Amino acid sequence: MESQQILMLIFFCFIFTSSHQYTLITPNQSLKYHETLVSSAGTFEAGFFDFENSRRQYFGIWYKSILPRTIVWVANRNVPAQNSTALLKLTQQGHLVILDGSGGIVWSSNSSKVAVKPVVHLLDSGNLVVKDGESSDNFLWQSFNYPGDTFLEGMKLKSDFVTGPYQYLTSWRNNDDPAEGEFSFMIDTKGYPQQVTTNGTTILYSTGPWNGYLFSGVSWDRTFSLLNFSMEFTNKGISYGYETLNSSEFSMTRLKLNPKGATERFLWSNKRQSWDVVSSYPIDNCEYFATCGVNSICNINNLLKCECLQGFTPKFQAKRDSHDSSGGCVRRTKLSCDSGDWFKEYTGIKLPETSSSWFNRSLSLKECKTLCLRNCSCTAYANSDIRDGGSGCLLWFHDIVDMRTHTNQGQEIHIRLSFSERDPRRNKKRLARIVVGLVTFIVGLTILVWATSKRMKGMKHPKPGEEFIIYEAWRLWNEERPLELMDEILDDGGDLSIEILRCIHVGLLCVQQNPENRPNMSSVVLMLNGEKLLPKPSQPGFYIGKDNIADPESSKQYERCSINEVSISSLEMR
Ligand SMILES: *[C@@H]1O[C@H](CO)[C@@H](O)[C@H](O)[C@H]1NC(C)=O
Ligand SMILES: *[C@@H]1O[C@H](CO)[C@@H](O)[C@H](O)[C@H]1NC(C)=O
Ligand SMILES: *[C@@H]1O[C@H](CO)[C@@H](O)[C@H](O)[C@H]1NC(C)=O
Ligand SMILES: *[C@@H]1O[C@H](CO)[C@@H](O)[C@H](O)[C@H]1NC(C)=O
Ligand SMILES: *[C@@H]1O[C@H](CO)[C@@H](O)[C@H](O)[C@H]1NC(C)=O
Ligand SMILES: *[C@@H]1O[C@H](CO)[C@@H](O)[C@H](O)[C@H]1NC(C)=O
Ligand SMILES: *[C@@H]1O[C@H](CO)[C@@H](O)[C@H](O)[C@H]1NC(C)=O
Ligand SMILES: *[C@@H]1O[C@H](CO)[C@@H](O)[C@H](O)[C@H]1NC(C)=O
Repeated sequence: MESQQILMLIFFCFIFTSSHQYTLITPNQSLKYHETLVSSAGTFEAGFFDFENSRRQYFGIWYKSILPRTIVWVANRNVPAQNSTALLKLTQQGHLVILDGSGGIVWSSNSSKVAVKPVVHLLDSGNLVVKDGESSDNFLWQSFNYPGDTFLEGMKLKSDFVTGPYQYLTSWRNNDDPAEGEFSFMIDTKGYPQQVTTNGTTILYSTGPWNGYLFSGVSWDRTFSLLNFSMEFTNKGISYGYETLNSSEFSMTRLKLNPKGATERFLWSNKRQSWDVVSSYPIDNCEYFATCGVNSICNINNLLKCECLQGFTPKFQAKRDSHDSSGGCVRRTKLSCDSGDWFKEYTGIKLPETSSSWFNRSLSLKECKTLCLRNCSCTAYANSDIRDGGSGCLLWFHDIVDMRTHTNQGQEIHIRLSFSERDPRRNKKRLARIVVGLVTFIVGLTILVWATSKRMKGMKHPKPGEEFIIYEAWRLWNEERPLELMDEILDDGGDLSIEILRCIHVGLLCVQQNPENRPNMSSVVLMLNGEKLLPKPSQPGFYIGKDNIADPESSKQYERCSINEVSISSLEMR
């Protein structure tokens, strides 16, 4: 919208009289002010241009048949040549140079390789290339390796895992000065790759981490059915680009970082013969980086757009009351870093920024959860790739920042909370699931009691089926994998697993070898309700070998973990 007007406001002063068009440049041949280089299908044109009322001359690339001129790349953007006397030359070694009227070099392309028969072409992608020999496929130099403010199809934005972004967009200073402005659009790879737009050295806004299709905060608008975005991973870094899927609707597209720092996606409408802006970032006030501070979610539909995550409370209540939420939120209760910790699942979320995240693209969500539980500073986990039902592991540590609600396309994230932050207002659906969980537990416990009581009556060798549940529960517990059993049974990676985990834990406590370690009935109820911390269970009293057959004393003790009472009291309390 705005940029459409801006484009209209850009007046380029071209002198078309006696202009000459070339398809290639060879050494000793120079391109003067009125002369241009044209791509083979005539899509792009390269040459000198300047701005109205200015003697500054730039060598740039634009769409040949679109007016007003849409400049997509400028060679000497920081160092204009003066007056109408500049020249573009290809040296014998294969370097492109721009000379000003007095023969001084104002700009030069850098290629380390020395050419034998260098030649310059403008490709129909808009890439200006130097090749060694006309039929060579190897480029000694290409403009696509030096992006300006425009991201074209076929171009790549690149970032090294160690040294950071090295191919990224930089805005113009203003609409008639292509010199490097203060804004940059890049893929940050300090942690898991994410898109960031910076103002100088600070992040202005981010569309979030890559999710396999797009960046997490990007809307799956019309663009997504027309363009295929891709992030290539190597051991050293990433390469991000896009290609058009369906070009019958439009013939050209570009992404531009404008001088005010906004990112706009344009499609050229063949029907209307104009550029349509199909998306523009930042979308709204929630988009500005970390606008709500840490551990909170920005929801643009709320009166107070910043909302603390469950279990967190505003750091500065006074500031929050005056609608300043940038202080963020702090945990109400410290994590205990044991099996009491649980994860609250949020869906429809733009994932938090990932600069200090950890990832492994081949782990599953279950493995991801296990890893997170093992590290006390891990505060959240999610799939790194949402394609094909989700894969990969993304972990966050300490505070998380820059989340927002993203209802239609948002992702799922699991936030770690302490034992005491369980939501007391359980909804009906959850209650239903808990009942299912309890029933499972009761069935298991019934089997246990039945098996045990039989053994109490003098059975020497318990049947394998009778021992199976205790054996499995204890084995998985020891291997720190009890949730896996539950996840397999219930296909649920969230709260219910933690509920069941607690049931197994209580169940194991009820069958401890030493009767003194077994909880009494009232403790069991509190434990099942999550109102009492669970001690660590040791080996159950009656599952391995004849030596462990419990003494008659314990049968009485055991009855304190009575089935019916447990189920009834637990359900009543919910
Ligand atoms: C280019 O000019 C230099 C010096 O004038 C000359 O030695 C060289 O042969 C020329 N090269 C071509 C390809 O014409
Ligand atoms: C540009 O042209 C002006 C006026 O014709 C002249 O004074 C000036 O020296 C020229 N500058 C260069 C760098 O050629
Ligand atoms: C060319 O390379 C040199 C040395 O690596 C560097 O200083 C210079 O800025 C580069 N020039 C361009 C136009 O990239
Ligand atoms: C960019 O940073 C400069 C200098 O810190 C500041 O004056 C300007 O307001 C910032 N621009 C935006 C859009 O945030
Ligand atoms: C998008 O590109 C990726 C690789 O770059 C490719 O594997 C995938 O099939 C493409 N998707 C479509 C819909 O063409
Ligand atoms: C391509 O776009 C045209 C026009 O919008 C549409 O009719 C067609 O179904 C699209 N094809 C694909 C493969 O998306
Ligand atoms: C990711 O996890 C897999 C499976 O555990 C392992 O083989 C691989 O080495 C890990 N990759 C990295 C980069 O840690
Ligand atoms: C937890 O993860 C952080 C960040 O990756 C790491 O620095 C720390 O060593 C880990 N702690 C443990 C106990 O593995």
